[in-house]
Amino acid sequence: MQLLLMGPPGAGKGTQAAELVKKFNIPHISTGDMFRAAVKEGTELGKKAKAVMDAGGLVPDEITIGIVKERLAKNDCKKGFILDGFPRTVEQADALKKILDGLGMNLTRVLNIHVPSEDLVERATGRRICKNCGATYHIKFNPTNKDGVCDNCGGELYQRKDDNESTMKNRLSNYEQSTKPLIDYYKNANLYTEIDGRQPIEKVTNDLVNVLS
Ligand code: AP5
Ligand code: MG
Ligand code: ZN
Repeated sequence: MQLLLMGPPGAGKGTQAAELVKKFNIPHISTGDMFRAAVKEGTELGKKAKAVMDAGGLVPDEITIGIVKERLAKNDCKKGFILDGFPRTVEQADALKKILDGLGMNLTRVLNIHVPSEDLVERATGRRICKNCGATYHIKFNPTNKDGVCDNCGGELYQRKDDNESTMKNRLSNYEQSTKPLIDYYKNANLYTEIDGRQPIEKVTNDLVNVLS
């Protein structure tokens, strides 16, 4: 199963991808996570991505396409994958088609988690992530049992640097401008399904799984 999870910033792509990984046992490929790992390691890629991400901009297509191409060629993707946060531009979507053609694969389905923009700032600013295992929480919608401590592993929680109101403004406007056109792009390819992302996390997962089975 070759899946693409779409949705505006804070819609729940990462949260739902984690559930789909458990259900389908295929790798989760998030370009945002890959860039954040590169920033943490201080690699050349990380140096290029950091300022752009902190400002809520988009990392240039040629860089982003290159890392996805490399990732999809790895053995673990032969049984399928869940792409999260890529493609984000029409140019990236065209490149993805070429990459998959080259690998003899195609997309099974494009799932768009729809959440109205007025909910997204609260989702992002309330998000907390475990430093140790990467589990994602929300101070109001998905709180941990103990403040600031991960339920899974006891790790310390942190906030992403780009999860503030002013950066969210840029992220949302980039989404409107560059990423939203992909809705029609994948409708035209007969791959598009929209899921109501305003429901509780478990309900959204159910809807996603129902579409796929
Ligand atoms: P990326 O990391 O992909 O950020 P994003 O697209 O802004 O999406 P988020 O990760 O913020 O949100 P999400 O949908 O995963 O939500 P989550 O599940 O965490 O990208 C970061 C940056 O990297 C970009 O800004 C850009 O600079 C760069 N980049 C990445 N890919 C790129 C590309 N292809 N091209 C160019 N640049 C790229 O949930 C959010 C919160 O809501 C959590 O707290 C969660 O607990 C809560 N929540 C989840 N579901 C629900 C629910 N149903 N109800 C209530 N709360 C919920
Ligand atoms: Mg995410
Ligand atoms: Zn943890």
